[in-house]
Order: sequence, then C-alpha cells, then structure tokens
Amino acid sequence: MNWKTKVNEQQLRVGVIGLGYVGLPLAVAFAREGFQVLGFDVDSERVEQINSGQSPVSDVDSEELQRFNGSGHLEATTDMSRMEAVDTLHICVPTPLRKSRDPDISYILASVETITENFTPPGLVILESTTYPGTTEEVVAEAFEKQGWNLEDDLLLAFSPERIDPGNEQFGIRNTPKVIGGYSEEAARVAELIYSQVADRVVTVSSPREAEMVKLLENTFRSINIGLANEMALICDRLGINVWEVIHAAATKPFGFMPFYPGPGLGGHCIPVDPLFLSWRANLEDATTRFIELADEINRGMPGHVFKKITEGLNKFKKSVNGSRICIFGVAYKPGVSDTRESPAFNVIEQLLDAGAQVEYCDPYVDQFEVAEQEISTKKQSEIIADEYDAGVIITDHDDFDWHNLLPKFSLLIDTRNGLAGFEIPADLELIHL
Ligand SMILES: NC(=O)c1ccc[n+]([C@@H]2O[C@H](COP(=O)([O-])OP(=O)(O)OC[C@H]3O[C@@H](n4cnc5c(N)ncnc54)[C@H](O)[C@@H]3O)[C@@H](O)[C@H]2O)c1
Repeated sequence: MNWKTKVNEQQLRVGVIGLGYVGLPLAVAFAREGFQVLGFDVDSERVEQINSGQSPVSDVDSEELQRFNGSGHLEATTDMSRMEAVDTLHICVPTPLRKSRDPDISYILASVETITENFTPPGLVILESTTYPGTTEEVVAEAFEKQGWNLEDDLLLAFSPERIDPGNEQFGIRNTPKVIGGYSEEAARVAELIYSQVADRVVTVSSPREAEMVKLLENTFRSINIGLANEMALICDRLGINVWEVIHAAATKPFGFMPFYPGPGLGGHCIPVDPLFLSWRANLEDATTRFIELADEINRGMPGHVFKKITEGLNKFKKSVNGSRICIFGVAYKPGVSDTRESPAFNVIEQLLDAGAQVEYCDPYVDQFEVAEQEISTKKQSEIIADEYDAGVIITDHDDFDWHNLLPKFSLLIDTRNGLAGFEIPADLELIHL
C-alpha cells in the first residue's frame, strides 16, 4: 500500500476501536483533517448518541459532531464487519485492574479477536490503551501471527500511548507530542506519517516496549509526586504548618522544583491504576518497585485522613459522625469533568456511611452517584439551605461552586483541595484543611 499517496490524497480510512474519553477525541482529530473515520464500539447507546450528534465526552463538542454528521467524515458503528473498509485501526479500549490488582487486558484481547475476524490486511494496527510493557509484542503480535499474518508486510503493528488529559483546555492531541514504538521499522515509519496528520510532533522510540514504558513512567511520576505531596500534608498537619502555603512558596523557585498538591486521594482511570501495571510486570521478574508501592500506600490512605479530619471537626461541635448530616462537594475525580472513576469520594462516603452518617452530595457534573450499591441523594447548590448540614466536605473543587453564597450556610467545612483559598471566611465558620 502506498501510504503517502493515501494520506496526501486524503484517501486514508481511519478506524478507531472504543469511542470513550480517548477514542472519540482521536476519531474527531482525524475527521477534522478531512479523513474518513469509522468508529467502532460495542455500546450501541453510545454509537447512537455519537451518530445523532450528542457527544458523550466533555472534550468533544456536540456541535462539532453535528457538523460531521452525514458528511462521511465520521461515523460510529457496532457493526465490526465494517473493519474490512478501513486502513488503520487504533485500539482505545479500557484497561482496568482486576480486584486482585493485576492488569485486565481482556478488552484488548477482545478487540484483537474482532480484528482477526473482520479485518483484511494490509493495514496498520496501533494499540493506544495503557498497558504493561510487552503487551504489544508478546500478546497482540502473537495473536496476529497465529492468524498467519506477516507483521513485516501484511499487517503493520505499533504502540502509541494516549497522553490526553480530559478537561485540559491548554493541551490536546494537536499540541501534545505523540510517542510511537513500531513492531517493525516500516510500522514505525507509517505510524509516524499517520500521527503527524493530527499531532504537531511525533517522537519515535525503538520498539513498542519502550513506548508502553513511557506512559507508565509518566503516570508513575505523577503518582509518586502526589504521594510525596500527600506525605508532606500529613507531616505539616502534625507540625501545625499550612502545607499549601509551603508548596506555593516552594513553587516560586524557577528551577529544580515542580509543584504537586495533596488531596483526598488519587482518582481517575489512569494515575491510581497505571503504576500497578508496571509493578505487576516487574514483580514477575523479581524486580522490586518500592517507590510505586509506597506512593500507592500513602495515596490510598488519604480518604482515611479526610475521615479523621471530619471526625475532628464534628468533635469541636460535640457531635459524632453517627447521625450527622454531611454534604460532599464534588464527586468527580477532578474539577471540570463528569468522570467519577476511582474518585476518592467513593471511599470517603463509604467510611461516613459505615460510621452512620447521612450523606448527600452536590456536583454540577454528576447526576447520579452510587456507593456500595447505595444511591446517594444529590442536591443542587441553589437547594442547599443554612444549617441543613452538620458539615460540608470539599472533595473536588469545581469552579462552578458559588462559595460566596454557600459559605454562610455552613458552620463546619473540611476543605481537602484548598478550594476556599482567596474567599473571605465568615467568623463563625470552622474551616478545616487537609
Ligand atoms: N481517560 C483518560 O484520561 C485516559 C488518558 C490516557 C490514556 N487512557 C487509556 O486509554 C484507554 C481507554 O480509556 P478511556 O478513558 O477512553 O475508556 P472509556 O471507558 O471512556 O472508553 C472505552 C470505550 O471502549 C468501548 N469498548 C470496550 N470494549 C470494546 C470492544 N471490545 N470493542 C469496541 N469497543 C469497546 C467501551 O464501550 C467504551 O465506549 C485505557 O487504556 C486508558 O487507560 C485514558
């Protein structure tokens, strides 16, 4: 196949498997450049939503989807047999952890099986899902080779980690360099050509294994540094020092320091999960992963620390957690998004419920929230009245919270994010920091 001609004449047909937070923005990025994109997903509701111009993810505008509707540039489908009509397949399916905390690559395996059943080489398959080093070469390549496909000629194979940060308005697919590791030189060359259509810079490493490891290093770096910030918060708490003030002042150093902030615990589909892919794989080779485990232990202990702070706050009012009415502000895992995966709100609320508290939540992005199979009632900001709650707890500081109006309605607030910095705190409000 002459890839250059296909690209230059905009004849390239791009296939994306899994139309979630990662796959849909990627599909839109290729459609924007004038290519024909076919998105595959097993979720028929999601497919219908996309085809009717309703974006299921916050980083993609519904209006943009509507513009693509009927233009032939972007279509979603559950019909996997249509894979025969594309040149590239980008696998963007979930990679969760199992309960036993080892990687669950079953969605990748299912996608690979679908490709072997429906795709006809030549073509390029690129795994984008985050996974442990070796997945592309040991698992995916083997499945294709079993099919009799030659990975030097028939089917080109590469790994390219997705690095997007949902909700980040400064960095998207275009201005975040794309890392690529090809199974063969030709695969790397073609993957470079394809991704340079949607990303300003492509960084090619020597094999898929290095590319898989790049993603795990990036997210392990974050997990460890957040763990350090959390440990600093625990130390400062004991020493009576304001950790936020310390971090902000340290961040004025123009070199050698990069600020990370403490919080109620790690959330999201990536940071709490990805480092454990690496420790699982490294441990199989008897390699130790002490930093990863230590950070994981500290970060997983933070919801317990928040619970302790709530207890201390209620004590000041001679109240127990049992029977207290508590409002949680923000259950999404970070500000400005509706994604609640791995949110620390789950753990904090579960501890409060176990201790007999009555819990409600307020989150402009999240309509429904269930903890331990119990639906938690939700309140709009405008519905919250003075003295209704014994305490408010800020887990996620969405910009949308109107603290000027909310602050006077509370006598006790636990702020785990320094979300109230800069607000005038009423004299009769007991404000507790992490
Ligand atoms: N969300 C992030 O911030 C982010 C950032 C970088 C990397 N990643 C990685 O990208 C991958 C995808 O994550 P996501 O957040 O987009 O997940 P997601 O849950 O938002 O989307 C995954 C989509 O894949 C679909 N799907 C599942 N199995 C399928 C199959 N066999 N065939 C077709 N479709 C299938 C699901 O229905 C869903 O629509 C994960 O490996 C994740 O770790 C995520």
